[in-house]
Amino acid sequence: MCGIIARVGADDGVDRLLGGLERLEYRGYDSAGIAVENGAGLAVQKCSGQVNELKESVHDSQIYGGIGIGHTRWSTHGPPTDDNAHPHTDSTGEVAVVHNGVIDNHTELREELEAEGYEFTSDTDTEVIPHLFERHLEDHPPEAAFREAVRDLDGSYAIAAMVEGVDAVFAARRGSPLVLGVSDDEYFLASDVPAFLEHTDEVVYFEDDEVGVIQPDEVELSTLDGQSIERSSEIVSWDPEETGKGGYDHFMRKEIENQHVSLANSIQGRVGDREPDLDEFPPGSFEDIDSVQIVACGTSFHAAKYGAQLLNKAGVPAQTFRASEYDDSVPVDDGTLAIAVTQSGETADTLAALDRASAAGARTTAVTNVVGSTVAREADDALFIRAGPEIGVAATKTFSSQVVTLSVLAHRISADVAGTAPWDDPAAFYDALERLPDHVESVLDTEVAADVADDYLGSDAFFFIGRGLAYPVAIEGALKFKEITYEHAEGFAAGELKHGPLALVTPQTPVFTVVTGDEDDSTVINAEEAQTRGAPIVAVSTDDHAITDVADAHLPIPETHPDLAGLLANVQLQLLSYHTADRLGRAIDKPRNLAKSVTVE
Ligand code: G6P
Repeated sequence: MCGIIARVGADDGVDRLLGGLERLEYRGYDSAGIAVENGAGLAVQKCSGQVNELKESVHDSQIYGGIGIGHTRWSTHGPPTDDNAHPHTDSTGEVAVVHNGVIDNHTELREELEAEGYEFTSDTDTEVIPHLFERHLEDHPPEAAFREAVRDLDGSYAIAAMVEGVDAVFAARRGSPLVLGVSDDEYFLASDVPAFLEHTDEVVYFEDDEVGVIQPDEVELSTLDGQSIERSSEIVSWDPEETGKGGYDHFMRKEIENQHVSLANSIQGRVGDREPDLDEFPPGSFEDIDSVQIVACGTSFHAAKYGAQLLNKAGVPAQTFRASEYDDSVPVDDGTLAIAVTQSGETADTLAALDRASAAGARTTAVTNVVGSTVAREADDALFIRAGPEIGVAATKTFSSQVVTLSVLAHRISADVAGTAPWDDPAAFYDALERLPDHVESVLDTEVAADVADDYLGSDAFFFIGRGLAYPVAIEGALKFKEITYEHAEGFAAGELKHGPLALVTPQTPVFTVVTGDEDDSTVINAEEAQTRGAPIVAVSTDDHAITDVADAHLPIPETHPDLAGLLANVQLQLLSYHTADRLGRAIDKPRNLAKSVTVE
């Protein structure tokens, strides 16, 4: 899990490399580095820490060059030290490489290379690549040597490499994302489009086992075997402004506040006359399906639970699996639809689960935010959530867009499979869906989350409870809270509180109680059970819900359809986490130890 970038152009590109790395920091931020060629050899600058620290050392060293590569790291092999930071070089310093992925056979390769006298200076799996490249350069010209080096590797990789004195960047991909950016007078290569979106929106996606040679005036794309590939570029629809903070202190705040816009985009044109109208899935698309399995990780798993509950309500058998727990013991047949929910489309656990489902005969569908992502290419079909780029590591707007997209998809599936809908009155749901962006705005206007955050700052732990469709919101609330505040937070099914977790409840453990409709009177009782043991209760509900008579504090949401109320409650909980983390001085956009999408299993 890391971000890589390369830039090939005539003028100095160091600022572009550093800017690109800043935009990729959501992929990892424990060390960073660049290498540039300036006619006088390769200059490498790297250090542990964030891109800001790299910027300072680059500024001091005044390195420059038109052709360069860069990397921001989330450690897998070896701790985040200066030596383990990328780029890695060969013994002579004539080859520099950045890499995202995991080289499975690095131990064997290292032993082999060390026996031949190559000296290693890091603990990383990546360092075998420059040494292999160096070894093949003895017998081959650079492009052929690069191909040979890549052929030696097992595992996953997106690689960008340079050789001293050669005006080119060599690139290869297998299993880790890589996209080329094309502009009039320069080329980029990156793990993700936001890295260069401010310079160009014209892109070419690399497929697995493809190699690129990027020179100042041309790009050659070919298979690993050397067969030339012609691929037209495409234009991405993301707005470059979406990749900036837009005046907010943090991306996360901006992304919370922009949810009314991303939600409007997600549903735009997808609802006909109060029924699903999905270009990707016309009526009858799922007629051959008899059950659904949804695989996902983290926040996407919580959205998946929401989708599965809607399908179950409609009478369609649907299960959710944490992708890392989805193994061959799960029964799958050709009537199974496996849906992978993943914001990034690159999460290794989710991709592996989808692979397993497909191998067992399931039909596969991706629900993702990223066009051109691995999941979108590997699944039989893809439905995009259209949330726009999300840079804050903690997922916010993509969760709400996943939920509404899954709601419409669940209706399409249930109509095809069972001739039903998840709601007795679909019109009421769709009317509320249309008003959802306005309702989100009114939640944002309440401005009470900051005060509630202040009131409970310093508590021993933070619990979140809900039942039915409020349960995924409760566990998402807890995940968000722990991700960015580093405080102990847990989400529980409200009714389960009394079966163990109640032992943890004290006057120092506020219980955030999410209720989404009149049917959750039992949740009120569960809250009272906690309150009797001294816990403060914070209701996340409409103003007139019975929970407010019990609660010590209130995060209000407007009246809406019960199946959408959870999304509004979630916005309040996102704000609660944000303000608490802000008060505690946490690195909100880049919480410790995390990365936005994890591309290793
Ligand atoms: C990482 C992130 C989580 C995210 C999960 C799934 O663990 O830290 O915030 O929810 O990956 O990411 P995906 O891109 O598959 O939705």
